[in-house]
Amino acid sequence: MSELDKLDLAWIDSLNDDQRELFLDALNSYLLFKKDSLDRCDLLIEKYPTFNAPKLLKIILILLARDNNKIKDAKRLLSNINIEDLNDHFKKYLIVISFWLKGDLHSVISSLQNIISDHKKDILAIRLLHFNSIFIGIDSKFLSKHQEILGNWSKKDPLYNIILGMTSFAYEENDQLSLAQNLANDSLAISKKDLWSWHALLHVQDNELSSDLESNEFFTSIDWSQYGAIKRHIWWHQALMHFYKKDFIKCLEMFDNFICSEDEFYLDFCNASSLLLRLHYQGADVEQRMLKLKPLANYFCEQQLIPFIDYHLVLFYKYFDDSEHLSIIQKGINEQYRNTKFQKTTNSYLEPVIKNLQNGEEIDTKVMHNAFQQLGGSFAQREIILLGLLNHNDQSELKKTIKNIFNSKKNSVVNYA
Ligand SMILES: [Fe+2]
Repeated sequence: MSELDKLDLAWIDSLNDDQRELFLDALNSYLLFKKDSLDRCDLLIEKYPTFNAPKLLKIILILLARDNNKIKDAKRLLSNINIEDLNDHFKKYLIVISFWLKGDLHSVISSLQNIISDHKKDILAIRLLHFNSIFIGIDSKFLSKHQEILGNWSKKDPLYNIILGMTSFAYEENDQLSLAQNLANDSLAISKKDLWSWHALLHVQDNELSSDLESNEFFTSIDWSQYGAIKRHIWWHQALMHFYKKDFIKCLEMFDNFICSEDEFYLDFCNASSLLLRLHYQGADVEQRMLKLKPLANYFCEQQLIPFIDYHLVLFYKYFDDSEHLSIIQKGINEQYRNTKFQKTTNSYLEPVIKNLQNGEEIDTKVMHNAFQQLGGSFAQREIILLGLLNHNDQSELKKTIKNIFNSKKNSVVNYA
């Protein structure tokens, strides 16, 4: 019996030991951000066509790619799941999937909460709640949800460290840095394998503008070749530490060797464009590298899956003063988010930014409320909106507000202008 069998995973629809073992390996691979999780699902789907859990996990992996061009594969796989064979726990995941396929992320989150309220140690539902909630805004509710989840777990539970890592990140984003640091360290004391706990530690260190991870023997001995795209986000964080020290040459080196990827993956585009724009705002020449990212930007430009991607696209096209693409995004936001809860957040927070960047329309500093939390992503990611506005504006009130936000968030004073 696998350790994971101690968790609330009754949705796994096989009692066969071999099948369960192989599936739990695939699930574990996803939970640890390894790059072989999709291949593991494919092997299981081929070998055991009536086993539905690998199909569910593969659908989720496709949806996590946040790419409209891949959604048809998820729909095809969903049609191969025989509902009559499923228990109620599994059926609740089908509700999650149906909202996700419609692009209704807020209902995805509430349906995941519904699973967790009945199955408090369903690590998959918890993980998905964490990674989807990030895109509707990491606020105090995000933290209280994680505190509640953590309260239902104990040190004896397998993967307790993963829960600690996610909760650490929730504390960090709510500016409770020492608690965040303690939880990340507690998690890493249990296991050094959860990249999200290292990531939570990097987020704490981002507030201090420097990191000690490059001299941490456990961190430096990670075999990165096993991992998927999350590693480039971690390297992006490390590049930011060099950025804060104004070592722009090192940042560009890291961009070329560790951050830039030609994969059509939204987070890679966001990491890469956001680093280059930061360097550009500081006067570095990033033109050739920005041009290299254009095919990726064009790939995502009309998709409008989450506002998080949109704000990266907006600032990317502003660099080129590409008003045609800015208008395409503006139109896409109005059409694709209609009748979803993203309509309100984009109308209130993203539209004014686009209008300001496009026509110089004066921006009301109230838009800075919670530094664009509702548009999704961490503060370190949303920072690019603030930096973009700072770079493209002469509005003195706006500049003052943005600098105040930075100075209240960061532990050290940094010269952004
Ligand atoms: Fe991050």
